[in-house]
Amino acid sequence: MSNFLKLAKERYSVRSYKGTPVEQDKIDTLLEAARVAPTACNNQPWRIKILTDADDLAFIDRITPYRFGAPLVFMIAYDSAASWKNPLCEGVDSGYVDASIAITHMMLQAADLGLGTLWVGYFDIADFCEHFKLPETIVPVALLPVGYPADDVKPNPLHDKSLDIGQLII
Ligand SMILES: Cc1cc2nc3c(=O)[nH]c(=O)nc-3n(C[C@H](O)[C@H](O)[C@H](O)COP(=O)(O)O)c2cc1C
Repeated sequence: MSNFLKLAKERYSVRSYKGTPVEQDKIDTLLEAARVAPTACNNQPWRIKILTDADDLAFIDRITPYRFGAPLVFMIAYDSAASWKNPLCEGVDSGYVDASIAITHMMLQAADLGLGTLWVGYFDIADFCEHFKLPETIVPVALLPVGYPADDVKPNPLHDKSLDIGQLII
Protein backbone atom coordinates (compact mmCIF):
# COMPACT_ATOMS: atom_id res chain seq x y z
CA MET A 1 0.00 0.00 0.00
CA SER A 2 1.31 3.49 -0.80
CA ASN A 3 2.39 5.66 2.12
CA PHE A 4 -0.34 8.14 1.23
CA LEU A 5 -3.11 5.54 1.17
CA LYS A 6 -1.90 4.15 4.50
CA LEU A 7 -2.11 7.63 6.05
CA ALA A 8 -5.53 8.26 4.47
CA LYS A 9 -6.87 4.98 5.86
CA GLU A 10 -5.37 5.51 9.32
CA ARG A 11 -6.84 9.01 9.77
CA TYR A 12 -10.11 8.98 11.64
CA SER A 13 -12.35 11.50 13.37
CA VAL A 14 -11.05 12.00 16.91
CA ARG A 15 -13.79 12.70 19.45
CA SER A 16 -11.72 12.91 22.68
CA TYR A 17 -8.55 14.95 23.23
CA LYS A 18 -5.83 15.47 25.80
CA GLY A 19 -5.55 19.07 26.92
CA THR A 20 -1.85 19.22 25.93
CA PRO A 21 -1.28 22.33 23.79
CA VAL A 22 -0.29 21.82 20.16
CA GLU A 23 3.25 23.10 19.56
CA GLN A 24 3.63 26.25 17.44
CA ASP A 25 5.82 24.51 14.85
CA LYS A 26 3.06 21.93 14.31
CA ILE A 27 0.45 24.68 13.98
CA ASP A 28 2.72 26.30 11.39
CA THR A 29 3.01 23.00 9.49
CA LEU A 30 -0.79 22.62 9.41
CA LEU A 31 -1.15 26.15 8.06
CA GLU A 32 1.50 25.42 5.42
CA ALA A 33 -0.47 22.33 4.36
CA ALA A 34 -3.52 24.57 3.88
CA ARG A 35 -1.51 27.22 2.06
CA VAL A 36 -0.34 24.85 -0.69
CA ALA A 37 -3.81 23.41 -1.39
CA PRO A 38 -5.12 23.95 -4.93
CA THR A 39 -7.88 26.50 -5.51
CA ALA A 40 -10.00 27.44 -8.51
CA CYS A 41 -8.03 29.87 -10.73
CA ASN A 42 -5.49 29.91 -7.87
CA ASN A 43 -7.62 32.59 -6.22
CA GLN A 44 -6.70 31.27 -2.73
CA PRO A 45 -9.88 32.50 -1.07
CA TRP A 46 -9.46 30.49 2.14
CA ARG A 47 -9.24 32.38 5.42
CA ILE A 48 -8.42 30.73 8.75
CA LYS A 49 -9.05 31.79 12.33
CA ILE A 50 -6.94 30.16 15.05
CA LEU A 51 -8.57 29.73 18.44
CA THR A 52 -6.63 28.66 21.55
CA ASP A 53 -7.65 31.19 24.24
CA ALA A 54 -9.83 29.81 27.03
CA ASP A 55 -12.54 32.39 26.31
CA ASP A 56 -12.61 31.51 22.61
CA LEU A 57 -12.76 27.77 23.32
CA ALA A 58 -15.58 28.34 25.82
CA PHE A 59 -17.42 30.23 23.09
CA ILE A 60 -16.93 27.28 20.70
CA ASP A 61 -18.48 25.01 23.35
CA ARG A 62 -21.54 27.26 23.34
CA ILE A 63 -22.10 26.97 19.57
CA THR A 64 -21.31 23.26 19.10
CA PRO A 65 -21.02 20.13 21.26
CA TYR A 66 -18.18 18.82 19.06
CA ARG A 67 -14.92 20.27 20.45
CA PHE A 68 -14.30 17.29 22.72
CA GLY A 69 -11.65 19.11 24.77
CA ALA A 70 -9.33 19.95 21.88
CA PRO A 71 -6.92 22.76 22.91
CA LEU A 72 -6.88 24.22 19.39
CA VAL A 73 -9.71 24.94 16.97
CA PHE A 74 -9.27 26.28 13.45
CA MET A 75 -12.21 27.92 11.72
CA ILE A 76 -11.72 27.58 7.98
CA ALA A 77 -13.72 29.92 5.78
CA TYR A 78 -13.57 31.43 2.32
CA ASP A 79 -13.85 35.02 1.23
CA SER A 80 -16.69 35.20 -1.30
CA ALA A 81 -15.16 38.41 -2.65
CA ALA A 82 -12.07 36.40 -3.67
CA SER A 83 -13.44 32.98 -4.69
CA TRP A 84 -13.90 31.95 -8.33
CA LYS A 85 -17.45 31.90 -9.70
CA ASN A 86 -18.12 29.55 -12.60
CA PRO A 87 -19.44 31.86 -15.38
CA LEU A 88 -21.09 28.87 -17.10
CA CYS A 89 -23.15 27.85 -14.06
CA GLU A 90 -24.99 30.61 -12.27
CA GLY A 91 -24.62 30.50 -8.51
CA VAL A 92 -21.69 28.09 -8.46
CA ASP A 93 -19.05 29.52 -6.11
CA SER A 94 -15.85 27.48 -5.77
CA GLY A 95 -15.09 28.89 -2.33
CA TYR A 96 -16.65 26.01 -0.46
CA VAL A 97 -14.68 23.48 -2.50
CA ASP A 98 -11.43 25.45 -2.11
CA ALA A 99 -11.83 25.63 1.67
CA SER A 100 -12.73 21.94 1.82
CA ILE A 101 -9.55 20.90 0.02
CA ALA A 102 -7.47 22.99 2.43
CA ILE A 103 -9.25 21.40 5.41
CA THR A 104 -8.54 17.95 4.00
CA HIS A 105 -4.83 18.82 3.60
CA MET A 106 -4.79 19.98 7.23
CA MET A 107 -6.48 16.82 8.50
CA LEU A 108 -4.07 14.52 6.69
CA GLN A 109 -1.05 16.61 7.69
CA ALA A 110 -2.25 16.49 11.30
CA ALA A 111 -2.57 12.71 11.15
CA ASP A 112 1.00 12.53 9.81
CA LEU A 113 2.15 14.57 12.84
CA GLY A 114 0.36 12.27 15.30
CA LEU A 115 -2.42 14.80 15.90
CA GLY A 116 -6.13 14.14 15.82
CA THR A 117 -8.75 16.29 14.09
CA LEU A 118 -12.51 16.40 13.66
CA TRP A 119 -14.28 18.17 10.80
CA VAL A 120 -17.20 19.94 12.47
CA GLY A 121 -20.00 21.21 10.28
CA TYR A 122 -22.54 21.36 13.10
CA PHE A 123 -22.14 24.83 14.54
CA ASP A 124 -24.06 28.08 14.38
CA ILE A 125 -22.32 29.99 11.59
CA ALA A 126 -24.25 33.22 12.18
CA ASP A 127 -23.29 33.19 15.87
CA PHE A 128 -19.64 32.62 14.96
CA CYS A 129 -19.57 35.50 12.47
CA GLU A 130 -21.31 37.86 14.84
CA HIS A 131 -19.13 36.96 17.83
CA PHE A 132 -15.88 37.56 15.93
CA LYS A 133 -17.30 40.46 13.90
CA LEU A 134 -16.23 38.88 10.62
CA PRO A 135 -16.69 40.84 7.38
CA GLU A 136 -19.86 39.93 5.46
CA THR A 137 -17.91 38.28 2.62
CA ILE A 138 -16.34 35.67 4.93
CA VAL A 139 -18.22 32.35 4.74
CA PRO A 140 -17.30 29.80 7.43
CA VAL A 141 -17.08 26.23 6.14
CA ALA A 142 -15.94 24.18 9.14
CA LEU A 143 -14.50 24.15 12.60
CA LEU A 144 -11.48 21.88 12.96
CA PRO A 145 -10.66 20.89 16.55
CA VAL A 146 -7.04 19.67 16.70
CA GLY A 147 -5.06 18.01 19.47
CA TYR A 148 -3.42 14.90 20.80
CA PRO A 149 -5.96 12.06 20.93
CA ALA A 150 -6.93 10.86 24.43
CA ASP A 151 -5.34 7.51 25.34
CA ASP A 152 -8.58 5.54 25.16
CA VAL A 153 -9.90 7.05 21.91
CA LYS A 154 -10.95 4.72 19.09
CA PRO A 155 -12.48 5.30 15.66
CA ASN A 156 -16.27 5.44 15.56
CA PRO A 157 -17.74 2.37 13.73
CA LEU A 158 -18.72 4.75 10.89
CA HIS A 159 -15.01 5.08 10.08
CA ASP A 160 -14.98 1.60 8.52
CA LYS A 161 -18.26 1.96 6.65
CA SER A 162 -17.05 2.87 3.17
CA LEU A 163 -18.78 2.06 -0.10
CA ASP A 164 -17.12 -0.50 -2.33
CA ILE A 165 -15.44 0.94 -5.42
CA GLY A 166 -18.21 -0.60 -7.56
CA GLN A 167 -20.86 1.40 -5.66
CA LEU A 168 -19.15 4.75 -6.10
CA ILE A 169 -18.58 4.55 -9.84
CA ILE A 170 -21.55 5.81 -11.89
C1 LIG B 1 -18.57 18.04 5.86
C2 LIG B 1 -18.40 17.23 7.12
C3 LIG B 1 -19.07 17.63 8.27
C4 LIG B 1 -18.89 16.90 9.46
N1 LIG B 1 -19.48 17.37 10.61
C5 LIG B 1 -19.32 16.67 11.77
C6 LIG B 1 -19.86 17.16 12.98
O1 LIG B 1 -20.47 18.25 13.05
N2 LIG B 1 -19.69 16.42 14.12
C7 LIG B 1 -19.00 15.23 14.11
O2 LIG B 1 -18.87 14.60 15.16
N3 LIG B 1 -18.44 14.75 12.96
C8 LIG B 1 -18.58 15.44 11.80
N4 LIG B 1 -17.99 15.00 10.64
C9 LIG B 1 -17.19 13.75 10.67
C10 LIG B 1 -17.88 12.57 9.97
O3 LIG B 1 -18.96 12.10 10.75
C11 LIG B 1 -16.83 11.46 9.74
O4 LIG B 1 -15.80 11.95 8.92
C12 LIG B 1 -17.43 10.21 9.08
O5 LIG B 1 -18.37 9.60 9.94
C13 LIG B 1 -16.34 9.17 8.73
O6 LIG B 1 -15.60 8.83 9.89
P1 LIG B 1 -14.02 9.04 9.97
O7 LIG B 1 -13.72 10.50 9.76
O8 LIG B 1 -13.64 8.55 11.35
O9 LIG B 1 -13.40 8.20 8.88
C14 LIG B 1 -18.11 15.72 9.47
C15 LIG B 1 -17.43 15.35 8.31
C16 LIG B 1 -17.56 16.10 7.17
C17 LIG B 1 -16.77 15.68 5.93
